[in-house]
Amino acid sequence: MCGIVGYIGHREAYPVVLKGLKRLEYRGYDSAGVAIYDGKNIKLSKTKGKVADLETRVKDEITVDGSLAIGHTRWATHGEPNDVNSHPHYSNSGDLVIIHNGIIENYEPLKQELINRGYKFQSDTDTEVLVNLIEDVKKNENVKLGKAVQIALNQVVGAYAIAVFDKNKPDEIVVARLGSPLVIGIGDEEFFIASDATPFIEYTNNAIYLEDEEMAIVRRGKKVKVRKIKDDSLVDPYVQELQLNLEQIEKGGYDHFMLKEIYEQPRAILDTFRGRMLSNDGIIRMAGVDDNIEKFLNAQRILIVACGTSWHAGLVAEYVFENLTRTPVEVEYASEFRYRNPVITEKDVVIAISQSGETADTLAAIKLAKSKGAFVFGVCNVVGSSISRETNAGAYTHAGPEIGVASTKAFTTQITVLTLIALKLAQKKGTISTSEFHGYLSEMDAIPAKVEKTLESDEHVKAISSIYKDATNFLYLGRGYNFPVALEGALKLKEISYIHAEGYPAAEMKHGPIALIDEQMPVVVIATRKGHYEKVVSNIQEIKSRKGKIIAVVMQGDTTIRKIADYVIEIPETLELLTPLLTTIPLQLLSYYIAVMRNCNVDQPRNLAKSVTVE
Ligand code: M6R
Repeated sequence: MCGIVGYIGHREAYPVVLKGLKRLEYRGYDSAGVAIYDGKNIKLSKTKGKVADLETRVKDEITVDGSLAIGHTRWATHGEPNDVNSHPHYSNSGDLVIIHNGIIENYEPLKQELINRGYKFQSDTDTEVLVNLIEDVKKNENVKLGKAVQIALNQVVGAYAIAVFDKNKPDEIVVARLGSPLVIGIGDEEFFIASDATPFIEYTNNAIYLEDEEMAIVRRGKKVKVRKIKDDSLVDPYVQELQLNLEQIEKGGYDHFMLKEIYEQPRAILDTFRGRMLSNDGIIRMAGVDDNIEKFLNAQRILIVACGTSWHAGLVAEYVFENLTRTPVEVEYASEFRYRNPVITEKDVVIAISQSGETADTLAAIKLAKSKGAFVFGVCNVVGSSISRETNAGAYTHAGPEIGVASTKAFTTQITVLTLIALKLAQKKGTISTSEFHGYLSEMDAIPAKVEKTLESDEHVKAISSIYKDATNFLYLGRGYNFPVALEGALKLKEISYIHAEGYPAAEMKHGPIALIDEQMPVVVIATRKGHYEKVVSNIQEIKSRKGKIIAVVMQGDTTIRKIADYVIEIPETLELLTPLLTTIPLQLLSYYIAVMRNCNVDQPRNLAKSVTVE
């Protein structure tokens, strides 16, 4: 994880890098640092804490003039988050300075060798080993920085996106990537380096995304030179024109990104099916599916791999695909899948779901599936991300940048894409009738407006949140399509409010969790009038008779549950298969308001990072 930013050009570099770090804080925020070159010296400042703490420290410690700078915001892997372990890191001579996102797995033997050669280390990090390895190569082989970086990287095992410069050659920054993202923004006589494009989008829309095992020398006034790290061959870099704009990555008047992103869902869902679903004509078109339709239709099984919220979207998709297409589906945590010698064949279609497109476990699961001959399809949000490039084909969710660490619009747009795919396959296979197909399409068309309507429960959910904000445990129950929504509701609450929460299939409660119910226990039950409604009503009765508190998410006009629940939150009527797109909304709001009322950092919850690029 971690965010890296760099600048070399004609502006003052520090403000560019500082603003960039603030935008990348979603990637990690336990410590931060900058190194600025002022024409003579490197000025370095770093601290445990957030970028705002760095800003304060910089004011006390260094002057900030200089047109070359690199900066880092960290999510600790090696070494606790403290001032010394923060990046940037100097080499022993003080000539080289580096920032790094990733993990050098063989850092211990490398460190030992360097110690044997007289090197001293201040920090516990793998990064300080890497910068000294580069220095050692540079000295011993008598080569320039770029070559030294290349030779050193050929000795390391692990993942990295790095930016390094040499005080004696301050007209260039050397960057490289393997497994962690790195993009170079190409401005007018200036260059930006970052983990994603958000730090430089107000300066340029032109960018080069480095591929794995590539490095580049970014030199003042020169064209960017990209080469393969392994064999030194030159690569013709593809300069991409980005579609991102500044408004998309700002809070737009909301208190938190999470709230903004919750409210963006009607638009995000619409953008996800816009141009793909032509409901009047009864057509779904998705290039990634259309071009590979035989693979999907002949699949003996669909295997879904993902982590966290994306895994929950995969679980919803399991119900949707099996119901509509009658193709067997299995959903796996990517982290488990890759390590258990799974049975995969060429007849499997693997769908990898990831908002960021950078999740290390999902990426590794994809590589494994590909190596066994499976066709791998990606559902990603971030355009140009590693997963979108590693998969054989895919579909973007078009949710727009998701900055809040807690995933919201990514979840509903992932479900939207997956539902479109399932509907398309069901139509082709004839596993649903034409009238059912049209019914789904026209109801799907109505979903953005219904999400909008569901958001009107905001104040009511806020009031419920104030009643239960001090609870120490929560249970979330759902059945069928809404069982994964219960899991997702519990995850949202856990990650941003630090309240312990469990999601369960409602019927499983009597096999254990019912023992937890007492008058202190709030139980959120998703009880739409579709999908085993009577059974869920019985589950609610069982909880009530043990004095549990019921917050029920019901369909508009429900009178039965209103009589027995403590609180009800209504969603508009829709088809059962599409209910997760609506039932999720109040659960997102509930976790959001509870976290705000508990004074938790909603957008940057403790110990977490937005994209988990470590295993
Ligand atoms: O970027 P990805 O969708 O691959 O991320 C997967 C999980 O890390 C992510 O969903 C995580 O669980 C979120 N914090 C949930 O809100």
